[in-house]
Amino acid sequence: MNCKLVLCAVSAWMTVMAPAQTGPMDDRTVDKRVNELMAQMTPEEKIGQLSQLFMFAPSKSIDDAVAKGQVGSLLFVTNPATINRLQHLAVEKTRLHIPLIFGFDVIHGFRTIFPVPIAMAASWDPAMVAGAQTIAAKEASSVGINWAFAPMVDIARDPRWGRIVEGAGEDPYLGSTMSAAQVRGFQGDYIGSPDHIMACVKHFAGYGAAVGGRDYEESYISEAQLENVYLPPFHAAVKAGVGSVMSAYMDLNDVPATGNRWLLHDVLRDEWGFKGFVVSDADAVKSLATHGFAKDLPDAAVRGLNAGVDMEMAIGYTTYSRNLAAALSAGLVTMQEIETADRNILAMKIRLGLFEHPYVDEARAAQTLADPEHRVAARVAAERSAVLLRNEGGLLPLQKGAYKKIAVVGPLGDSQVDTIGSWAFVQDLPETVTVAAGLRNKVGGQAQVSFAPGVQIGRRFPSIFDALFPGKKDLVWTAEQGQDEMKKAVALAGSSDLTVLVLGERQTMSGESASRESLSLPGEEEQLLEAVAASGKPVVLVLLNGRPLDIRWASQHVPAILEAWYPGTQGGNAVANLLFGDAAPGGKLPLTWPRNSGQVPIYYAHNTTQEPGKQGQRYWDEESTPLYPFGYGLSYSTFAFSNLQVSRKGGTVEVTADVENTGTSAGDEVAQLYIHQAYGSASRPVRELKGFQRIPLAAHEKKTVRFTLGREELSYWSGSKKAWVEEPAKFDVWVGGDSRASLHGDFSLAADETR
Ligand code: NOJ
Repeated sequence: MNCKLVLCAVSAWMTVMAPAQTGPMDDRTVDKRVNELMAQMTPEEKIGQLSQLFMFAPSKSIDDAVAKGQVGSLLFVTNPATINRLQHLAVEKTRLHIPLIFGFDVIHGFRTIFPVPIAMAASWDPAMVAGAQTIAAKEASSVGINWAFAPMVDIARDPRWGRIVEGAGEDPYLGSTMSAAQVRGFQGDYIGSPDHIMACVKHFAGYGAAVGGRDYEESYISEAQLENVYLPPFHAAVKAGVGSVMSAYMDLNDVPATGNRWLLHDVLRDEWGFKGFVVSDADAVKSLATHGFAKDLPDAAVRGLNAGVDMEMAIGYTTYSRNLAAALSAGLVTMQEIETADRNILAMKIRLGLFEHPYVDEARAAQTLADPEHRVAARVAAERSAVLLRNEGGLLPLQKGAYKKIAVVGPLGDSQVDTIGSWAFVQDLPETVTVAAGLRNKVGGQAQVSFAPGVQIGRRFPSIFDALFPGKKDLVWTAEQGQDEMKKAVALAGSSDLTVLVLGERQTMSGESASRESLSLPGEEEQLLEAVAASGKPVVLVLLNGRPLDIRWASQHVPAILEAWYPGTQGGNAVANLLFGDAAPGGKLPLTWPRNSGQVPIYYAHNTTQEPGKQGQRYWDEESTPLYPFGYGLSYSTFAFSNLQVSRKGGTVEVTADVENTGTSAGDEVAQLYIHQAYGSASRPVRELKGFQRIPLAAHEKKTVRFTLGREELSYWSGSKKAWVEEPAKFDVWVGGDSRASLHGDFSLAADETR
């Protein structure tokens, strides 16, 4: 009998006949199936499952490795036909027909690109964020991707670090909420939900504290900061049922995260009860040797596995595939360690339904990826993520018909790639709507929209990613051309009725390996800004960027500033809707906006080391306060908070307050609740966010917001007790529209009320 034919028939049956999963697979069934596989697997097959390889282009060696069962997963394959071809190799050629799991960086969308994660956090709308990742999961799964390397939940308090764009900012409470929302969005109700994929929370842990904001640099984080600030968003993902965790690159307090058993085992598994699997970041196991932690690559493989890295992600080859068999013979790793890693991985492959449905329906992808509803959701997400930083004299919203000649000026104003931001590889670039295109879509019939870039932005030093984009040059203008372009742009502004200046950073300036020493507007953008503002015509500054920038001059001289971040596929349409009042800005900053890089790190939840009045007097040469506080953002309307009430219900504290739209147009306000524990076994931050709600309010409408503070909100990790504590103390509480909220109340917890 022709075995190949039989296998094809079996796999065809698996795809067509097996019923779609209708609920989570129960633990006993999963264990039983894992045990059955483990009983049949050879040591080589067991080691094979622990390797994950990048595949950027067709590769004979990867095909061979897959067919021999030497690979458990591939990443960066996004073509459904290629995915099926490789999956057929895994399922039909290997002895036990174990399918591959296909991973990809689905960070803020797949084909439909949503705003970058820092922007989505600025929406303060976890339901919207979950919805965006649900769409991303649907699109990614339609091509056969099973696994997203997201959410990235690294707390970042130093905006020089380029990866601040990928997370939710500086705050553990907002970060935890966004983390859980994204896990829910990717995974659905359970791992294996139809049209969903497995999430991977990353980078565990402490990557955001890179010294000097230099990417990949070591982090030194106290135990108290780790527990109170950096770990909570990871714990939130685990509580939300995340299926996988990615170990970080850097040294954490001198022990690389990827070789850190305390982190990957004691905290993650023993303390938090994580049941999924751990994958290393790309080549992070090899880096154990680079860091001078492992002696060499064979030692790195041993240290990675010993620490709890189940699957090694690597380019070219893994240290596991080359060294674990010998390490096993030498007694440096045990069969039990290898099997534990296998069990963790196989359980997820089973839960995902990959054994029943290894293949993707290639005919479905095109339709799913083109779904117009997804573009609508991306536009709404961009509208909800934008933050209005300034609106002097009510320049915004713009009156339709009032401006016949509109100039769009700035190097990002008509750049599609810079509208979507980093970590978008499969996007349909030609369909991306720039700010210039969005304005034309909106007022093209009534006004002439002209564009001039004015300046170009170049890199000072080569990037480690240059090899991926050979021949791509940053600076293409000669010095004379540069002067001409600047003049043209300023002249265009002078001859127009309104200028929309689109400044900020090119998308490659944010993301991995994209740190900056300065937060200034790059290149000659500042000169362009000041020259255009001098035209005397109305100017709106729209920022496209992934980090706060030094906009001190603009914050004094440009009447309207809209932070649009990198708004995604539909960014230009969203910006146009916001500028013309067809959408109302309601986003709030998920980070403290420094005046310049010299203030960094700066965050609202600092400790009280001075009397409140003296807090702003630390530097000789600049204010100690930020330019814009955490939680800040304007609306086209105004809001007032009143009537704060604090009451007790059993062991919990209830806080209510009224929020009223005191303006004449509808808008959203984000009610934010902050607390301060006045004394205890450790000093506590001057304020900590412990609740928020984004509330739509019609003009003059008033609503009551209600928050509950329980053990989770009132406890913290005490540096003196070396434990999580809830302490008898007095607590201040504030509710308002940003971290300076003034509506105040207080309550106390007695010793017998703490648990
Ligand atoms: C390296 C990055 O640090 C990580 O975030 C990403 O998921 C992997 N590469 C895979 O692309």
